[in-house]
Amino acid sequence: MIEYRNVGMAYEDKVILDGINLTIADGELFVLVGPSGSGKTTLLRMINRLTEPTAGDVYIDGRRVKDQDLRHLRLNMGYVPQTSSLFPNLTVGDNVTIQLEEAGVKRRERRERASFLLDQVGLKGDEYLDRRPSELSGGQQQRVAIARALAAQPKLILMDESFSALDPVLRRQQQELLLALHQQNQDTVVFVTHDMQEALRLGDRIGVIKDGCLLQVGSPEEIIQHPANFFVADFFKSARPRLGTMAQLLASAAVSRIQAGSLPAVAKVDELVRLPDEAGLIKFAYQGAGYQITATDLLRYLGELED
Ligand SMILES: Nc1ncnc2c1ncn2[C@@H]1O[C@H](COP(=O)(O)OP(=O)(O)OP(=O)(O)O)[C@@H](O)[C@H]1O
Ligand SMILES: [Mg+2]
Repeated sequence: MIEYRNVGMAYEDKVILDGINLTIADGELFVLVGPSGSGKTTLLRMINRLTEPTAGDVYIDGRRVKDQDLRHLRLNMGYVPQTSSLFPNLTVGDNVTIQLEEAGVKRRERRERASFLLDQVGLKGDEYLDRRPSELSGGQQQRVAIARALAAQPKLILMDESFSALDPVLRRQQQELLLALHQQNQDTVVFVTHDMQEALRLGDRIGVIKDGCLLQVGSPEEIIQHPANFFVADFFKSARPRLGTMAQLLASAAVSRIQAGSLPAVAKVDELVRLPDEAGLIKFAYQGAGYQITATDLLRYLGELED
């Protein structure tokens, strides 16, 4: 379990994070989402102590990270930084298994493991193992960094905008890989993104951060149905260009026709997120006809839309 207790961060007199209280449970895929400069990376890096808070403390399993042996702390978690962090003088294979080398795993076994992990992130092991990072594109380097974070099968993985450099198809594949591995390994993942749609797709729970304050923490359903304030609602709406049209939604199997009666009329998909009743059912009128969809189905539909 990861706990932030009254965590704050200031650089000189500039406050970056303020009064952060947050608990992330074991086995959770927790997504931290917020605009650029809101403090996501700073908050994430407090877990592996790349950043030390200027107020409060971060605890893992009840122990302050500050009091833990730094090497041990970092060896027990995977970390995919926001910007490429591969060692330029090491091959791709050696980059992937650097933690295993420290743990004393033999070279042959390391190569096998590296090859397997590279395959998993969509890079052919045989082809990439002996290349240097400088011979890879940005997105390929990012995938090597993901493979490296998975190499030691850590129970905790920190990922900072890990899929942002990938094209939509690859991004989707990596999201699915992450979800599958997470299900299989029951590990804890803290995933940072500025993309609300990605947050909705991945998160068991989502924390929305703005200007160094956590505005809301909740399940995707809670955040969509009961945005804590205007910013959260608006931030979700900013994903609207990718929410698709009413015509597309109505063509999906999730929607059924009902009597029009006196249903609230809507013009756009994002208006639906305010309408669920207590049973999670959304009933609405569009161009004179009545429809219904469950909030869960709407969420699933939105999550499955292509970028
Ligand atoms: N070493 C530093 N010294 C001074 N200010 C810093 C330092 N590191 C970060 N900041 C400031 O802290 C704020 C939060 O930065 P952070 O990197 O955590 O944001 P972020 O949410 O990860 O943004 P992005 O989505 O662009 O990666 C920013 O305003 C940034 O300029
Ligand atoms: Mg960042």
